[in-house]
Amino acid sequence: MHILLVASAFNSLTQRVLAELQDRGHTVGVELALGNDDALREAVRRHSPRLIVAPMLTTAIPEDIWTAHTCLIVHPGPPGDRGPSSLDWTLQGGVESWGVTVLEAVAEMDAGDVWAWSPLKVPPMAGKSDLYRGEVADAAIDAVLLAVERFASGKYKPKRQKAADLAAGWRPFLKQAERRIDWATQSTESVLRQLRAADSQPGVLDELLGEKWYLHGGHHEDELRGAPGELIACRAGAICRATVDGAVWIPQLRPWREPGSALPSYKLSAVEALGDLLPFEVPEVPVPLQLPAGRRTWTDIRYSENGAVGVLNFSFPGGAMSTVQCRRLLEAYRFAKTRPTSVLVLGGVRDFFSNGIHLNVIEAADDPAEESWANIHAMNDLVEAVLTTTDRLTVAALGGNAAAGGVMLALAADEVWCRDGAVLNPHYTLMGLHGSEYWTYTLPRRVGESEAQRLTQSALPVSAKRAVELGMAERVLQAAPEELGDEVARLAAQLAASPDLAARIENKKAARAQDESVKPLQQYRDEELAHMRRNFFDASEPHRALRSAFVRKEKALHTPPHVARLGLDFGE
Ligand code: COA
Repeated sequence: MHILLVASAFNSLTQRVLAELQDRGHTVGVELALGNDDALREAVRRHSPRLIVAPMLTTAIPEDIWTAHTCLIVHPGPPGDRGPSSLDWTLQGGVESWGVTVLEAVAEMDAGDVWAWSPLKVPPMAGKSDLYRGEVADAAIDAVLLAVERFASGKYKPKRQKAADLAAGWRPFLKQAERRIDWATQSTESVLRQLRAADSQPGVLDELLGEKWYLHGGHHEDELRGAPGELIACRAGAICRATVDGAVWIPQLRPWREPGSALPSYKLSAVEALGDLLPFEVPEVPVPLQLPAGRRTWTDIRYSENGAVGVLNFSFPGGAMSTVQCRRLLEAYRFAKTRPTSVLVLGGVRDFFSNGIHLNVIEAADDPAEESWANIHAMNDLVEAVLTTTDRLTVAALGGNAAAGGVMLALAADEVWCRDGAVLNPHYTLMGLHGSEYWTYTLPRRVGESEAQRLTQSALPVSAKRAVELGMAERVLQAAPEELGDEVARLAAQLAASPDLAARIENKKAARAQDESVKPLQQYRDEELAHMRRNFFDASEPHRALRSAFVRKEKALHTPPHVARLGLDFGE
């Protein structure tokens, strides 16, 4: 069936719906709804789709389109729930069971007939964007696929929603006034609910050290205590604030700006955002890499071991990895390599694996080109350490999406395992970069030279299943986000116990030596970095403007050509 996706952005859910529908043999086009209804009409004319699906839409579809075509809207709430801040209200209210509904577009928001819906469990610790990319995306895919099947059958009659339910289900936009935290009275649990309901966007507006900030992200602290609201510690760029009955970690801050300010602000690690404002008495309170059992505190890198398997978990906001974060992860990796294990897993936690170098940190640096250079070297050092590990098998376990250098970091491992639903973007071109992370070595050796060129030039997402078909990955993990860690541990233990493990390690060592004799890793690195140096330092290169637009979330003016072409060339 030819399906047109209409979305406000080519975001992770839209990419995943695209990939999953393509995997099932549908031809799929994508048009971004960016406020120009005529452009949307023109796209509908061009595609003449049998069905329109809107995976993530913040504007209304024009009436003449939804009266002429069946338009299915994905709403991140169960049937009867309505409004633009569904997940925010859900998390803030502490709801444990939720759902995603696919309903038909009509004049009133979220009031159309229900084609399908899928329930989900809200995990106790996840923030909104993590939930959105995890359980919500899983439920959305189930509901969309069922709705498409029902539509294709031609026999299904969608369920009308009752007027009384529609009136009761409406919840308005969740404003900052309702997100405000009262540090003097609120418990840790309720502070965390508010932070998680706003974690990625829009953040919770608050005052700290005499200035206004949006707080992004929130995690438990089990030991540190202080006066409610007080800044009591830092760790790996995050700050810890006391509540009336405990304390919470806040990884990122974004400075408040006057509404309509010419230069929108963007998130940085809390410590970096506060800069000189941070009182020097606030101590850095690290935790050991191997966190003692029973501790319930935040850390972004941790190592654990079970028999012959070592697992190096890491989780950075937005999957972005700054110079400092890459170096810390490399240090942890080097530690992991000193341990007597035969299988070393990288990742293995829910949500993003990695999205490569940290564009926000780079943008905020005094000299962004120099910071980019330092960041790509730090990333390359990490990738090199994985590539040159010849005394054990390495596994990259992707609980969620990865892009650009983050994909290439995964490809450095001997095996790549992707959670079903993970979306990979193995390309750099949209950021005006040639790319490094030894991709010119790792990608062609897995998929072949011409496929490597196609993947990096077409700049399109790849599903976990497709990644396995292409040879980019070895396994699709059928596990819910919360079950991923256990599934990875189980499979890694199996790998460590496999009778051919020693032979595999020997073979890999020999293959690395052979590859090195044909072309040394350093040569790949030097060649890639010659391009990257130009991309970063040459003012006539597009990267600087693309980075600034990305970091400041400048809205696209039209559907990017590589996306607009999708589904029109039926021979693709
Ligand atoms: N640096 C800084 N921030 C990054 C980032 C990076 N490399 N990659 C993602 N993020 C941030 C996004 O800005 C977003 O921030 P928000 O929470 O304030 O909204 C968050 O991480 C999630 O990303 P988002 O774009 O909403 O997720 P998505 O799943 O819809 O899209 C990508 C994922 C990877 C396609 C998109 O984020 C992207 O193009 N990232 C840049 C990749 C890149 O070029 N890296 C540098 C070269 S190595």
